[in-house]
Amino acid sequence: MINHSISLALNAVQEAVFIIDAQRNVLFANTVAMTFFGSQSIDRDFIQTIRHPKCIKAIDETINNGTQTATIISLEAPIKASFKVQVNLITQNATPTETNQILISLQDISDLNEAEKMRTDFVANVSHELRSPLTALAGFIETLRGPAKDDVEARERFLGLMSHEATRMVHMISDLLSLSKVEAQSRFKPTGRTNIGDLLTRIKTTLSEQAIKEKKNVNLEILPTTTFVNGNEEELTKVFQNLIENAIKYGGVDSTINIKVDTRKNVAGIDGNALLVEITDQGEGIAKQHIARLTERFYRVDTHRSRDKGGTGLGLAIVKHIINQHRGRLQIKSEVGVGSTFTVTLPMGLETSK
Ligand SMILES: Nc1ncnc2c1ncn2[C@@H]1O[C@H](COP(=O)(O)OP(=O)(O)OP(=O)(O)O)[C@@H](O)[C@H]1O
Ligand SMILES: [Mg+2]
Repeated sequence: MINHSISLALNAVQEAVFIIDAQRNVLFANTVAMTFFGSQSIDRDFIQTIRHPKCIKAIDETINNGTQTATIISLEAPIKASFKVQVNLITQNATPTETNQILISLQDISDLNEAEKMRTDFVANVSHELRSPLTALAGFIETLRGPAKDDVEARERFLGLMSHEATRMVHMISDLLSLSKVEAQSRFKPTGRTNIGDLLTRIKTTLSEQAIKEKKNVNLEILPTTTFVNGNEEELTKVFQNLIENAIKYGGVDSTINIKVDTRKNVAGIDGNALLVEITDQGEGIAKQHIARLTERFYRVDTHRSRDKGGTGLGLAIVKHIINQHRGRLQIKSEVGVGSTFTVTLPMGLETSK
């Protein structure tokens, strides 16, 4: 039996704790253990609660040798999680005997594993994204040195392709730097006021050459008399530049992009008045299964098409981070064959004019 005050103490522990006897029967499970693994483990072989060879091996080692053991296990059932398992002999004479009890503690490390996985995935993605253009460049250099050495036409074409790949790499590095900067700042509310109407007018002018080249007509409609929001101008420029550039890149040929600015009251999650910017294109749209994943780093619906357009798939990840930092919202609505609307909602703050 487990002493009452010991069980109270173990119930206050944040880790899952079991006490078993030398035959592996469960004598005690604390509250966290019951939450994770159910309440039926008492008086049953521990294996029936957690069936994992590494865990059983660690327990047997402690029972047989009296040593403390530790291991890491990943479970699929009864819950999908990873645990750091520690097994200790509870004894007064430090030698294994039939009457010894064993304490097993399991610390949930799923979050740590998830963060680590994200980090390794990210490094793998970056390496892959950089390796492709570098391999292409190396290939072009070889061709220019060899077969295309005296072919003026081929040389021009290869130099054009090399310039495209190099520009894309520079673009990617600056996107990666932007992403790491906004991630580092994401917990701090931005200071300053920004006039979104002015900012959109400026971006429209900056992108006009690209719009003409891609045969897109950009319409900007600003309804409110004041369009100031709480926020950093440089960061918000990145948001709208990315969204409008996407609309130009992925909108249909000879089509119109409508940008509409309006205000809203009582938007969920936003204090006070909100400024709404809707960017609608008449492009091919985005299928439902892609929409939720668009703001993931490097996610592209069609990798080849995006690459051809010099895209890296980091744009919307940056957009989402900046909007979150500004305590705003990004909504994506799209219909395949009709077009997409990206709506940004930003808190206007207490002052409504400046
Ligand atoms: N307006 C849009 N219409 C259709 N698809 C879009 C639109 N905006 C984005 N997408 C899709 O979402 C993907 C991710 O967009 P994102 O802006 O993150 O990357 P990108 O435009 O490919 O590259 P970057 O922005 O880094 O130049 C794009 O590759 C494209 O497939
Ligand atoms: Mg983009």
